[in-house]
Amino acid sequence: MAFPGAFLDELTVKTDMIALVSQYTQPVRRGSRWFARCPFHSEKTPSFTVTPESGLFYCFGCQAGGGPIQFIMRAENLEFSDAVRYLAGRLGLAVPEDSGDLGLRVKRERLIEVNRLAARWFYERLGSEEGRLCAEYMRSRGMKPDMARRFGLGYAPDRWDGLLTAMAAAGVSADEMSVAGLVSRNQRGGLYDAFRDRLVFPIFDLRGQVVAFSGRALGDGMPKYKNSAESPVYQKRGLLYGAHIARKSEQPYWILAEGNVDVFMLHQAGFDNAVATCGTALTDTQARLAARHVKELTIAYDADAAGQNATQKAVTVLEAAGVRVRILHMRGAKDPDDFIRAYGPEGFAKLINDSQNHIEYRLSLLEARYPANSDAEKMEYLREATRLLAELPTRGEREIYSARVADTLGIDSKAVSKDVEAAGRKRGKAAEKAFEAQVIRPETRDRVTARKAAEEQALALLLRLPELETSLTAEDFETEEHRLLFENRFSPLSGETAALCAGLLTRYEEMPNALNALADCEKRIKNPRAKYANY
Ligand code: CTP
Ligand code: MN
Repeated sequence: MAFPGAFLDELTVKTDMIALVSQYTQPVRRGSRWFARCPFHSEKTPSFTVTPESGLFYCFGCQAGGGPIQFIMRAENLEFSDAVRYLAGRLGLAVPEDSGDLGLRVKRERLIEVNRLAARWFYERLGSEEGRLCAEYMRSRGMKPDMARRFGLGYAPDRWDGLLTAMAAAGVSADEMSVAGLVSRNQRGGLYDAFRDRLVFPIFDLRGQVVAFSGRALGDGMPKYKNSAESPVYQKRGLLYGAHIARKSEQPYWILAEGNVDVFMLHQAGFDNAVATCGTALTDTQARLAARHVKELTIAYDADAAGQNATQKAVTVLEAAGVRVRILHMRGAKDPDDFIRAYGPEGFAKLINDSQNHIEYRLSLLEARYPANSDAEKMEYLREATRLLAELPTRGEREIYSARVADTLGIDSKAVSKDVEAAGRKRGKAAEKAFEAQVIRPETRDRVTARKAAEEQALALLLRLPELETSLTAEDFETEEHRLLFENRFSPLSGETAALCAGLLTRYEEMPNALNALADCEKRIKNPRAKYANY
């Protein structure tokens, strides 16, 4: 949902940050800043600060920071657009889409209503004689009626116009059904039910509203799953199935599975923190959605090659979103549903306990690929493992895993460590070169040195969050105008320095993790090899 920038600015300017924050904690004034105990993590001494003039908050403890919209997103667990509506409601401001695009707004609400009616009808069918085989199918898969009710499961009967007729009687037009993706159109333009003879899973948004459906064939019918088309209320790249329940879970992490049935069975087994993508690779939007609710996530994808592949991709996306990742190593079953049926909830809980971090997982994949029967295989395993371990940031970690690799090969762990350190030094040199090389600046698509980009980002961070402490001094900046701006960052600026400042602030907008970002820049500026300074 795109809101006009001017509207967002107005919202930000008009919101009294101190009053807003006071709904959740008690800020106390100290000079120009206010301090409070952070509402986002538990602490005894206040490290949460608010600067009313700029409308910004920042927590030195958990590094949460931003303006009123970011604050409400976290405080109320809301999506961006819902946070905007929340703040607008508080101020009595009309949200532009409400007045400007009334048509779309009505349609969204109506679509939710249409989906809700359809879900209810499917649900009633499941309880009727017509749904007997479907109920039987669910029983055969161990899906219990209680949980089925909780997830609103239903049955789409084996008819071409079942839903069509029922919905028409409830006053839903053919167009509305069509936009909701509940009907398909044949070559002669006639409409027919899109879901037929399927177990139907309503797909919920974060607020628990039905926005789409996913229908599983009862048996070997093709296709196995049929999903609603995307609609104004359903974008699959932004939604995680089960998240409306998982967001209320007491567990500090989420379990990410591949399928609806997996999520269902996990919840039934007591894992109320399970979510799934709906048949697509994990997107950046979904990763950020997860990041807003939990710091850690355990991937429980299928055990097959496709699942492992998807796991690697998901790791990258999740780590970029700042989520710590653990990976479940499932043996003896295809997916969580299978596993729980075979080994029970206790078995799965044990899997969770044994779940590996990223490096362990990749090592175990290497071990499986090179069972070390021949010398050639051992060499290959050692070479790849060495490369992997060289990426670890601390010497301690490298030592621990070197020992494990040595153990696997039955060789001296000192030999492995030596190889790993050598590989690391090589990486360090390559990184140093890359640092002085030209990079494309994504924001403006022009070329700068990586060093200059780091200087820019450090400045932007310091300008936006003046309370950040930095180990940088003016001399650290290679670019003359950067040095000038750094020295004068607490004074009123004019001329070129002001323009540079404004440019930086617009170019570097987001900083989800300011302290880490700044630390990163500092290291890179002070020592191009700092990232590998441990070598
Ligand atoms: N999927 C899909 N279309 C298909 C197959 C799968 O949209 N033809 C999506 C569904 O959301 C499904 C997920 O991908 O839940 C995972 O697929 P798969 O592993 O094949 O299904 P399971 O969830 O294991 O379903 P089941 O146990 O019923 O076979
Ligand atoms: Mn399955």
